[in-house]
Amino acid sequence: MITVFGSINIDLVSRTARLPRPGETVPGSEYKLIPGGKGANQALAARRAGATVRMIGAVGDDDMAATALAELEAGGVDLSGVQRRGKTTGMAVITVDDHAENTIVLSPGANAKLKATDLQPGSIGAGDTLLLQMETPFAETLAAARAAKAAGARVVLSIAPFLPIEREAFADIDMILVNETEAADLARHLGLLPGSTGAETVTSLANELKRTVIATLGPDGAVAATGEDTISVPALQVVPVDTTGAGDTFCGVLAALLDEGADLATAMRHAAVAGSLACTKPGAQPSFPLREAIELSLGGDPAFP
Ligand code: RIB
Ligand code: NA
Repeated sequence: MITVFGSINIDLVSRTARLPRPGETVPGSEYKLIPGGKGANQALAARRAGATVRMIGAVGDDDMAATALAELEAGGVDLSGVQRRGKTTGMAVITVDDHAENTIVLSPGANAKLKATDLQPGSIGAGDTLLLQMETPFAETLAAARAAKAAGARVVLSIAPFLPIEREAFADIDMILVNETEAADLARHLGLLPGSTGAETVTSLANELKRTVIATLGPDGAVAATGEDTISVPALQVVPVDTTGAGDTFCGVLAALLDEGADLATAMRHAAVAGSLACTKPGAQPSFPLREAIELSLGGDPAFP
């Protein structure tokens, strides 16, 4: 089983021909309110890939909460660990341009009130996976990691968005997920030189931290360094419409495949294809593929596994 401890947001999305410069106003499309948040996104992506998923998070006492949880609920994610805390649900104001580039301003709202103790002791154990990101208070996230690790679970941290993390903080993390920018930021923060390729950067991070490090590389797929091996997998070649949540799709699907016992290379292949598919539709959660679609794109049997 996968437990996601993390953020739940409403994404307020407008499309525009090009992103505004500071001080500039540009015309936008009709706005949309779409469920998002890196935690919720990863939970839904894992669920659609076939995992049993429980969400630990917080929403506010507002009208946005129901919308924020709608896709998770429809998808069959266990929401019994979602708390109501404070007035507002997290909101991400997102602008997407014609080249599928985006900017995001995030107001955390209830996400700032999530506590490690919201992960009930005894609710996670050996063989389970805890999936974490950086949109909830980091001290609480680390304490949740410690509890899960002590219980024998696999702990996976997506360092998104990037925040400087000290070496000691990785003690209870088994696997680190980053995009190219986050990989370079983490390397610099640890006093390493970012490599000239993603593979070089993840290799030096894995050697330094003694952990498996996986980087998504956009259209170039993903690369992992385990300390022993380097594994590269391709992306699907797609015309991106909106890349919001593509990284979260990768994280959720990777966790889902690992949780069902797939090897790392297989999990990464599924995750990279799922991330590509998510780029082909607008918005985050509505664009996340079902397992059948991932298997079809991999050229395998849609009746998985
Ligand atoms: O990673 C994409 C997510 O980041 C969006 O859904 C938005 O909520 C922001 O948190
Ligand atoms: Na999308």
